[in-house]
Amino acid sequence: MMTNFNELHNNQNPPVYKFFVDGAWQISKTDHYLEIHSPIDNSIVGVVPSVTKEEAEMAVESSRNAQKPWENLPIYQRVDLLHKAASLIKENADYLRDLIILEIGKPFSEAEEEALRTADLIDYYAEEGRRLVGDVWDSSAYPGTKRNKIAIARRVPLGVVLAIPPFNYPVNEGAPKIVGALVSGNTVVLKPSTQGAISSLHMIELFRQAGIPAGVLNCVTGKGEDVGDFLVTHKQVDAINLTGSYETAEIVAKKAGMKKLLFGLSGKDASIVLADCDQDLAAEEIAKGSFSYGGQRCTGIKRVMVEEKIYSEFLKKLSSVIHKKFVLGDPRIKEYTLGPIIDDKAAQYVEELLDDALNLGATLALGGKREGRFMEATIVSDVTKKMRLAWEEPFGPILPVMKVKDWQEAVGLANQSEYGLQSSVFTKSLDSAWAVANALEVGSIQINGKDARGPDHFPFTGFKNSGLGMVQGAKYLIGELTRYKTIVMNTKG
Ligand code: G3H
Repeated sequence: MMTNFNELHNNQNPPVYKFFVDGAWQISKTDHYLEIHSPIDNSIVGVVPSVTKEEAEMAVESSRNAQKPWENLPIYQRVDLLHKAASLIKENADYLRDLIILEIGKPFSEAEEEALRTADLIDYYAEEGRRLVGDVWDSSAYPGTKRNKIAIARRVPLGVVLAIPPFNYPVNEGAPKIVGALVSGNTVVLKPSTQGAISSLHMIELFRQAGIPAGVLNCVTGKGEDVGDFLVTHKQVDAINLTGSYETAEIVAKKAGMKKLLFGLSGKDASIVLADCDQDLAAEEIAKGSFSYGGQRCTGIKRVMVEEKIYSEFLKKLSSVIHKKFVLGDPRIKEYTLGPIIDDKAAQYVEELLDDALNLGATLALGGKREGRFMEATIVSDVTKKMRLAWEEPFGPILPVMKVKDWQEAVGLANQSEYGLQSSVFTKSLDSAWAVANALEVGSIQINGKDARGPDHFPFTGFKNSGLGMVQGAKYLIGELTRYKTIVMNTKG
C-alpha cells in the first residue's frame, strides 16, 4: 500500500517542505527558502527551508534528550522498528524512484535500484545491530597477573550523530548513516544535501511512519554555510558522518573540534586493464563503472590505464560498448540511460577538463558534445600526466584513457593521485591481480569487476583524501558509531 506524504509539505504547487523535529513536521519560521530545481528541465521540485539557528538547535536538543531512552530500549525493539522502516521503503520504492529521478536526474533503473537497495540495507544493518556485543578479557592471560580480574568491554553508542548524505544518493547514502547509528543506540540529526533534500525528507517520513520514537531521528534542511556550520560546531553533536567532497570535509574537520569524524569522500578510481584480460568483460564493466549516473559517483571509474599491447583494440571495444549502452536523454524514460549533470556549474567544469585535455594533445574518442547539463558519454584517449583530466575528479560523463607500458607504470600513476578510494584491475592472471591489488594505495580493489561500493555489507573506506574511517559495511560502520566501555570485575577467585 502506498503511503500518503501529505504531512511533509503545504500541499501547494510547488510544495513548500517542513523540517522534522520531535517526531513531527514543523513549519519553519525562516525567511530563507531554497528552491530545488530538477536538473532535467529546471522545473521546481519543491522548496525547502534553510532553517534558523533556533530550529537547528531544536533538532540537536531533541536528539540529545531522546538518546538515553533510545539507548535503553531493548535492542530487539529498535531492530523491529528499523525492519518496519525497510518494509515501508520497499512498498514506496516506485514513489521514491520517481522522486530521485526528478530531483537529481538519476536514470530510471538506477533510481529504482537505489530505493530497493536501501530497504535491503536497512534490514541487514538492523540484523547486524541485533548481534552487537562486546568482548570479555581475563587477567590471567597477562604475564604475572593472577586470575582475579574480568573485563567486560561493551559497545556503547557515541551519542548524537550528525548525518550528512550527498546529493547523488539522497536515500541510499542517508540510510546507512541513520540505521547504523540508530540500531546501536545513537540518535541522529540528518542534514541532507540541498539538492536531494526532498528525496531524503520522504525517507524520513517513512521512518516516522514506522514508529521511530520522537526525537530519535530529526532532520533539518539548509545551506552548509548556515545550518551546516552551526551543526558541525555544536557541542552536543558527538559524531559527524559525512559523504561528500574532500573540500567540504576539510572545512568540516577544521571546524568540528573534538568529535568523531567519519568521511566518505572524493575519488579518482583507476581501472587497470592488462593485456591478458577478457576484453569483452573489461569493456562491459568499465562502461558501467564509468558512466552509471553519468559518472556522478564517488566510486566511478575516473581513469582507465591500458597496457600498450592492447591499447587501440581495447579503446575501440570500450568506445563501442559505451556508445551503445549510454543513451543521452530524459532519465524519466527508461530507455535513456544517461541523464543530466547535476547543475550548470558542474557541467561547465566537465567541459573545462575536456578542453584542457584536448588543448594539450589528447584525442576525443567518443562524444564530447554538451547542451546545457546534458553531455554525451565522452571518452578522451591519449591522456597524459600533464592534463588536469588525469588528476581531477570530473563527476560527470567523461572518461580519460591512458596508455601504459605495464602494470607497474599503471600502479605508479594510480598511486600518484591525492585520492585513494577504490580501483579495479582486469587480468586473467591471479598473480598479476594480486600484485596490483597489493601495490595500490586505495581502500578497496575490484578484480575483474567494476568499481562499486556495494554490496552494502562489504567494508568500504577511502585512503588518503578519500576518507576517514569505515564509512560503509554494516559491521564496520556500526563499530565506528560505537565505542568500548570497559567494566572490570575484581574477583576473589
Ligand atoms: O558516490 C558515492 C557512492 O558511495 C558510490 O556508491 O558504488 O554504490 O555507486 P556506488
